[in-house]
Amino acid sequence: MTPRHLSRRTAGLPPLGLAALLPAARAGGATDLALGIPTGDPPAAAVEAAAAALRTGANQYGDPAGLLDLRIAVAAQLAAARGVTVDPEREIVISAGATEGLLIAVIATTDPGDEVLIPQPFFENHPGVVELAGAVPRFVTLTGPDWRLTEEALTSAVTPRTRAVLLNNPHNPTGRAFDEAEFAALTAVCERHDLVLITDEVYDRFTYDGRPHLSPLGSFPVLRDRSVVVGSFSKARRMSGWRLGYCVARPEITAGLRSVHERTTLGTPHPLQRGAAALGMPDEAEVDTARAEFQERRDLVCAGLRRAGFTVHTPEGGWFLLAGTAGLGRGSSELARELVTRAKVLVAPGSSFFADPADGEDWIRIALVRDRTELAPALDRVAGHLSGASLAVTRRGAP
Ligand SMILES: Cc1ncc(COP(=O)(O)O)c(C=O)c1O
Repeated sequence: MTPRHLSRRTAGLPPLGLAALLPAARAGGATDLALGIPTGDPPAAAVEAAAAALRTGANQYGDPAGLLDLRIAVAAQLAAARGVTVDPEREIVISAGATEGLLIAVIATTDPGDEVLIPQPFFENHPGVVELAGAVPRFVTLTGPDWRLTEEALTSAVTPRTRAVLLNNPHNPTGRAFDEAEFAALTAVCERHDLVLITDEVYDRFTYDGRPHLSPLGSFPVLRDRSVVVGSFSKARRMSGWRLGYCVARPEITAGLRSVHERTTLGTPHPLQRGAAALGMPDEAEVDTARAEFQERRDLVCAGLRRAGFTVHTPEGGWFLLAGTAGLGRGSSELARELVTRAKVLVAPGSSFFADPADGEDWIRIALVRDRTELAPALDRVAGHLSGASLAVTRRGAP
């Protein structure tokens, strides 16, 4: 029953998946392989510029669309990394992280009761964002074992109420970087049913083994007119606490996004926007170094998990993977509880990434981005725990 004075859509939001495990993780000093929080600070130049802005009077409302200098920096970055021309005056909104960017994108492009297709497994915030906007999530199951997005699955989820697709690429939690064939399928379905495509591209700079990052902004320009591309400063710039992201869309859609954004946050913190704008273009050599480092961590994690008995589809991008627990003799909720208390490793049980939590019982999500000095011992403890636990089972079962 909905508690008195609480809206149905608020009461209906499930608690975020890790809530039950965090107290044990904190009490036991577990290594966090659940959340994608890397070590390291934002670039010093941004911190200095933000601090200077706080001292020198950038403390009142700024332009709700976002500081023009920051929009220019985003456009310059997209031009350099993807070869696209974006008009910072009419096609960009600076949002409070990608999280607000996604919310305003869904509100601006759907009406209450409209349906939004979400590939499943999903980033756990996505269905809630759609529901808070008054729309209805419809799940499109990625087919295993390599989590592919197919035209058949997309088409069979479309109804007369479908208005949009929300695609995260590279994908949290599976580590997929969707390829040309999948984008061709997406294009066909979006065109056939005149759908908006909202892409969550917070991991756009993290694709591995030389794979390209595909997007309506860049490699699939045919989708650009019907798309809202949502990006973030949280990941590549290591400033998730600053809450800075952006949306890019054609001018009429951007006008709608700005209009909603004026009613959600009326702008993100002005001094922090000054700080981020001072960075200008990312140093591509630094981006390459970070990507190569994360690719090495990915390899370490995949090898460690396989050694421990999990099945793993090697991530093509992003900061996470889903490891299959089917051969380990217990569901992922029980396994996650065991790992946090006995192996001192926090992992995310798969239930949060599926509409029916039971579908997640064969998966746990692991973040790739902790330092190697933490990753290696944590993976050893997981393997040690599992081999010890299976030994104990064998011994108990022995005559
Ligand atoms: C897929 C995805 N989208 C959005 C976010 C949130 O991004 P931001 O910090 O820009 O709100 C995250 C954070 O982990 C994420 O994994």
